Amino acid sequence: MRMKITVIGAGNVGATTALRLAERDYADLVLVDVIEGMPQGKALDLAEAGPVVGFDSTLTGVTVTDDTGWEPTANSDIVVITSGMARKPGMSRDDLVQTNAKIVASVARNAAKHSPKSVFVVVSNPLDAMAHVAMAASGFPRERVIGMAGILDTARFRTFVADELKVSRSDVQAYVIGGHGDTMVPLTRLTTVGGVCVEELIGKERLASIVQRTRDGGAEIVGLLKSGSAYYAPSAAVTQMVDAIVHDSHAVLPVSVYLEGEYGIHGVFTGVPCQLSARGLERVFPVELNSDETAALHRSAESVRDLLTVVDQNGSALGLRELTPAALLA
Ligand code: 2OP
Repeated sequence: MRMKITVIGAGNVGATTALRLAERDYADLVLVDVIEGMPQGKALDLAEAGPVVGFDSTLTGVTVTDDTGWEPTANSDIVVITSGMARKPGMSRDDLVQTNAKIVASVARNAAKHSPKSVFVVVSNPLDAMAHVAMAASGFPRERVIGMAGILDTARFRTFVADELKVSRSDVQAYVIGGHGDTMVPLTRLTTVGGVCVEELIGKERLASIVQRTRDGGAEIVGLLKSGSAYYAPSAAVTQMVDAIVHDSHAVLPVSVYLEGEYGIHGVFTGVPCQLSARGLERVFPVELNSDETAALHRSAESVRDLLTVVDQNGSALGLRELTPAALLA
């Protein structure tokens, strides 16, 4: 029997993810949005690519209104959550957190109700906080709620390093860990090009500017596009995570998970290397970090925790019973 994957949010990230997954031909897909006609139109257009590209995945477009219309998503194996608003002029970061927390809490609750055994891949921003909201709203164990960010941030870093050294992008191995924001931690000491540490290949100042460009990677795309944000690389990163889950590959990938003491961090979603399998998070992969790297990772986790306190003020209004100050401080 084919797997079933629901993609919530039929905007650029959701639709491009659906395209990439359909072309994998390993699952039937449901594309969900609140807009009438749009997910249906995109699903039909995608399905009509099947005879040309060569896939048989079925594609179903669904319009939902808060708690209604979710039945076609039932019994999905994987649910990709891309819903949420992009920050608009005049909106504070906290405004965005509150707005998207409401949206993500609602879709996570409904998706979990109809697909209680699914694995969530969360893409909505601010990523680590929204993964926490999705876990709290769904009541799922941490193994089944995983945030996509580290693969994207690492892909940006790998691209910039490869371009600098004029080597193949696949020759650059790297980890960018921490939260998906200004405090992310590109681990230059562990970045290799054909097995050689990047610190031996690129001068300190130049490498520092590549690290900074990586941290600003999302904003660079937003600045160029003028409206909207990146979606080709984000959807590729989501697909790599879904591949690992579908194929039960145990691949080691940098993703955002709820840490329970690993890397010395408790009770907050943060990007770290993890193995993904059919059950979602198979295990947090232990990479030895030095004291500077550990301090930077902890600083990044604390910035995610700060953001969560904004959600927590309204956690009970959103029905997020587990998102309590006690849990945050555990
Ligand atoms: C990015 O970094 C929007 O999180 C997305 O491009």
